[in-house]
Amino acid sequence: MSNKPKDTSFVFNASLYRAVDLLSESFTEMHLQQTPGINNKTNFSATLPKQGVGENVALNTLAPFILGQAAPLDSAHALAHMDPPTPWITWATSMFNARLNQNLLHPATAPFARQAEQIVIDWLSPYFGMQGGHFCAGSTIANLTALWAARDAKGITKVVASEAAHISVAKAAKILGLSYQSIAVCANGTINKDALGDLSSACLVLTAGTTATGAVDDLSIASAANAAWVHVDAAWAGPLRLSHEHAHLLAGIEAADSVAISAHKWLFQPKESALVLFKHLEIANVAISVGSDYLVAPNIGLQGSRGAAAVSLLATILAWGEEGFAQRINANMDMANQLANFVELHSQFILWQRPTTGLTIFAHKTMSVDELLTLLPTGMFSRCQIDNKDYVRSVAANPNADIASILDSLRRISI
Ligand SMILES: Cc1ncc(COP(=O)(O)O)c(C=O)c1O
Repeated sequence: MSNKPKDTSFVFNASLYRAVDLLSESFTEMHLQQTPGINNKTNFSATLPKQGVGENVALNTLAPFILGQAAPLDSAHALAHMDPPTPWITWATSMFNARLNQNLLHPATAPFARQAEQIVIDWLSPYFGMQGGHFCAGSTIANLTALWAARDAKGITKVVASEAAHISVAKAAKILGLSYQSIAVCANGTINKDALGDLSSACLVLTAGTTATGAVDDLSIASAANAAWVHVDAAWAGPLRLSHEHAHLLAGIEAADSVAISAHKWLFQPKESALVLFKHLEIANVAISVGSDYLVAPNIGLQGSRGAAAVSLLATILAWGEEGFAQRINANMDMANQLANFVELHSQFILWQRPTTGLTIFAHKTMSVDELLTLLPTGMFSRCQIDNKDYVRSVAANPNADIASILDSLRRISI
């Protein structure tokens, strides 16, 4: 063994404690005043620096930007996007993951991380009636992977989805060289099942929680439609299966051939974390596996090198159990309902529809969406368009949102 000293950038450094301290500091007031605006790059040289400043200075320089100029997803008024805050246990596991840099492509470079993924997949698959699957970096990739399996396992030639399906479905069809048919939606934002037509050579994509309104397509179509393959894009609403109170909203999902779920949405995971699950795992895996002479095990799915996102989800599941997820998701569903109740009873607002999966969509009778949003704290709500009409969109993904104070804000601007 040589006595070659290790490059200290790669060994444990006590400054990591400083990084954790920085996390606990509030950057919202003082530091923001001291740092330039988000578009102001004056702190950085125009070209790539020739010499480094060292880790400590780099960390201290960047902390006000990274920590101080991020959208506060856990703030009491954040109810805008499908991007939840993350529990602290995932901050810790993400640091472990960065330190270890396991690559799930190779069994040799991720012995426990691969096992962790398998455990999580085995735990979650039964909630969806699926046999198994794998993690991927988001539901865009999960949807593409599922359609790839459908194409190569069942020879589908077209993809059929509603007008409200996520753009990733049309993108996947394009990438895979499949034709794409967009089906009109009913007034409640769900696919018009009378317009489906012949699906014998098609992959029908149903959405459980559309991006704009949270609508859930009638998933009983999964067993009733004579489709060559049925994929459910449950990127948003999939986690409702963990709630006894709300699991029924996705009844019928177990008849699908594949399901996509974004763990970085309602499973409160750091990006990039999603799952693609299959009813007939072996058949799907054969369709989406590619071997190579440098691989011990075939590469399953789209990504090559893949990080250990499953470790963070495993830790969160151990910490919370099914009940911990259900309690937080139920609380979010309740917030969406409280907001809808308020809007419904208020003479100045119009509710689009009752929320089904935590999204409350509404408009003001006289103010435009822009006017309304500028009067409210940034990040309280987002926007969407339905039938060419603008609406305010609220997504209840933040367990720390304070619905009473959000309703107060609405009351104040609409007297
Ligand atoms: C219904 C639906 N499907 C797929 C996606 C794409 O997921 P990701 O952003 O994880 O790639 C989204 C994203 O919002 C979505 O809402």
